[in-house]
Amino acid sequence: MINAYGYRTFGGPEVQEFLARPAPVPAAHEVAVAVGVAGVNPLDHVLRAGLLPALNGAVPFPQVLGMEAAGVVTAVGSGVRGLEVGDRVFGFALTGAGTYARTTVLLGSATARTPDGLSDRWAATIPVAGTTALDVIDQLGLPPGARLLVNGIGGGVGIATAQLARARGLRVVGTAGGAKRATVTATGAAFVDYTGPTAEADLRAFAPDGFDGIVDLVGGASLRAVAPLAAAATTVVSVGDPTVVEIGGAVVERHTDRPTLERVADLMVQGVLDPNITAVHTLDEAAQALASVESGHSTGKTVLDLTG
Ligand SMILES: NC(=O)c1ccc[n+]([C@@H]2O[C@H](COP(=O)([O-])OP(=O)(O)OC[C@H]3O[C@@H](n4cnc5c(N)ncnc54)[C@H](OP(=O)(O)O)[C@@H]3O)[C@@H](O)[C@H]2O)c1
Repeated sequence: MINAYGYRTFGGPEVQEFLARPAPVPAAHEVAVAVGVAGVNPLDHVLRAGLLPALNGAVPFPQVLGMEAAGVVTAVGSGVRGLEVGDRVFGFALTGAGTYARTTVLLGSATARTPDGLSDRWAATIPVAGTTALDVIDQLGLPPGARLLVNGIGGGVGIATAQLARARGLRVVGTAGGAKRATVTATGAAFVDYTGPTAEADLRAFAPDGFDGIVDLVGGASLRAVAPLAAAATTVVSVGDPTVVEIGGAVVERHTDRPTLERVADLMVQGVLDPNITAVHTLDEAAQALASVESGHSTGKTVLDLTG
């Protein structure tokens, strides 16, 4: 029976296929989970393309897509503490185990209980986008009133970053395409259309003496265009482009442990963070879901709901 979506060789979307795989058995450090909802992320297609061989180059095929999920624990590895069969949880899957699947295994140390009142749809977005947003805001550590530029604010990490920054009293401006204006301003951030002719002048007007911090979610030429707008290069943090260090900035330092997952879940329960889920697909629609993220221009978060 078809129960997963992945690939048997690295490549483009054409290598993706539905799979019938035996239910994964958890190792000592893992929990087995009946997946309720899986998050869809840019990293999924990057791994499928074989661009990060250090992560999945040696993982046997078929590999299943997806790094994060929320669901219910069905078995607990002998080395996992604090989780029990029947718990609602969310967390990270090992590369290759995948989460575009009815069942998977999650890392026990990178899995947390889902609080009452938090849906699987929201919880499934925490491991990748939610914790990245928290990490980058923690790393910058800016005081209330500081001016923050979020380059690429309209996607999953960007919207979450804007909300966390606003909750800490930062003055936020973000770059996105014109269609995302309402989504961006709803977070309390100012909006600049990066495709417009006055984008750089508009950003400079927001922080004439330079931004106190820049979060870059785009990388490449876009990063290099906005980096000079920082008051100090050391306050440019990129989540996706390691070459940021060549211009004096830093790469985000990631935390994927259970306490960090729990912090983000609490922020959702408190109403500080809304993952802004804009697309919910079934497993049958996994190709469509990943294609929209792979376009590089999706809004907020896309998830697969496997409960249907
Ligand atoms: N290091 C980590 O652990 C980690 C974790 C999560 C994500 N990431 C990386 O962070 C990046 C963002 O992730 P995400 O989940 O937020 O992606 P996403 O949800 O797919 O959103 C990407 C966003 O980038 C915007 N964009 C594209 N080109 C742009 C440009 N030139 N200027 C401004 N905005 C632009 C798009 O909006 P428009 O339609 O407006 O262009 C889109 O909303 C990805 O590269 C991802 O791999 C890294």
